[in-house]
Amino acid sequence: MLALSFYLALLVVFLTIACYYKFLYRKRRDGEPPVVPGSFLFGNAGDFNKQAVQFLLDSREKYGNIFTLRLLTQHMTIVMDPHSFENFSHERNFDFDVIQKQVNHNVFSFELADAKRMLKEAGKTVKGKFLHRSMKLYSSHLQDAYNQISHTDVNGNVLNGKPTDWKQIELREMICKTLFTALFYTIFGKGNEHDVFKPLTVFKNFNQFHKYFNFLWLGFPVKMFPKALEALKVLCQQPTSDEYLRREDISDYIRFSTEFMLDHDQTEQDIIGHNLVYLHVNYNTFRMTCWAVYYLLENRLGLKALTEEIRNAIRKKIDDMGGIEEGESVPFNLEEVSSLPILDSVVKETLRISSGVFMVRGISEDTEFEMEDGSKYNLRKGEKVAVYPPALHRDPEIFESPNEYKYDRFVDAKFYKYGKEVKHPLLAFGSLCPGKRYALTQAKWYLITLVHMFDMELLPGEATKEDTRYYGHEILPPTNDVQIQYRLKENFHQLTFV
Ligand code: HEM
Repeated sequence: MLALSFYLALLVVFLTIACYYKFLYRKRRDGEPPVVPGSFLFGNAGDFNKQAVQFLLDSREKYGNIFTLRLLTQHMTIVMDPHSFENFSHERNFDFDVIQKQVNHNVFSFELADAKRMLKEAGKTVKGKFLHRSMKLYSSHLQDAYNQISHTDVNGNVLNGKPTDWKQIELREMICKTLFTALFYTIFGKGNEHDVFKPLTVFKNFNQFHKYFNFLWLGFPVKMFPKALEALKVLCQQPTSDEYLRREDISDYIRFSTEFMLDHDQTEQDIIGHNLVYLHVNYNTFRMTCWAVYYLLENRLGLKALTEEIRNAIRKKIDDMGGIEEGESVPFNLEEVSSLPILDSVVKETLRISSGVFMVRGISEDTEFEMEDGSKYNLRKGEKVAVYPPALHRDPEIFESPNEYKYDRFVDAKFYKYGKEVKHPLLAFGSLCPGKRYALTQAKWYLITLVHMFDMELLPGEATKEDTRYYGHEILPPTNDVQIQYRLKENFHQLTFV
């Protein structure tokens, strides 16, 4: 018996060592970036999970602007020099396709046929004239949503009191009922009353599903998480592709992608999976806007400055029009929405603080990567390479008091590192996101109209912060929700997006 136990123990030790050498061990070769020491089993995953930003900033201090980590079985080289961002983005052997495939396959259970072409072409449908068309639709859905929350209570019953009375609600619920609802209808069209796939149901289930995103992305099967599975089942109860294509008010993105996928013989289930990916990217706009409103409610000086800026822009517009009649609305176009400096800074500062994204690429060939300062490093085919925007966004050498929210930080500002201007100080959209302008314009329009139409306050003692357990998500969720009160202002001219 003793002998058997001894041999079993020996076998376990032997297998552990064999697995270590097969899956975890990696000897640094000449010309490769330094390797950050970590634990025998998990590598650097423990430190990274605990305090990703601080851990990377400390590693940069010790090992320089490029170093390699091991996160469980995955070796990943991190580029910490903001000046090398363009070299990173333009390197042909750094491939986003594998990452996109991993998300589609592991989280949404489908594979996109001819993915590069599809994403390139579909990306055009949120720009130029399409952006304008979709903004018009979005602003009109948003106005309906504002009317709804002004004239009904939190349960949707018609109000007894006046719309200008204070009403209490959770901040995210308010933004779900307005921005998320408007976004949802802009993407999928209004559909009919009996659809399961409706904004509030989808929002509730998407929230639930999203909590497991990092596990699913890493390859854990969804069946391991009963709550995620339950939510996913509801999210999959969507209209057929045929029905979507019959809707006149569906977005150009969904129309294009559905037709493209049908042309490539993809199944209805694939199309449903892809629709959820599209919802996922748009959900970032929701999260970003929640933070923008929250930070403004916490920083009343910022809210005051933004309110002034918007008031002045409206006043100027009315003057330019030679005055307007009562009940007439004030038109704003894309350029005007984009050209308000405080609003622009508020949104950028929000992204700087709340962004949790990892810009990861698969290395498709052994590559000699050149940093901006001319130093060269060998990177191995099959491993990953990444830029980690949250660490750069909180770099005290680029941003003064980086953990502080400053609403006007980006007004007429330039940022420097090593005495040289940082060309891309804000990396929340990575280098590839086609929805950047679309998301920014939607968020800005939301903030303009919200601040113009409503008074809002955090209820006493209400506070939240970014939940850093979710680093990896494009925008971090909050640790908890907060209660606010809001009321419709009196005597304002409606704004219209033209
Ligand atoms: C606040 C809102 C958003 C944020 C923060 C965000 C951020 C990102 C980031 C960080 C990436 C990865 C880019 C890289 O690694 O270089 C990405 C990719 C992508 N985003 Fe966005 N995004 C947002 C909204 C949107 C919207 C509204 C769309 C709708 C068109 C969109 C469509 C996409 C697509 C299709 C990709 C994949 C691109 C590819 O595979 O080439 N995103 N986004």
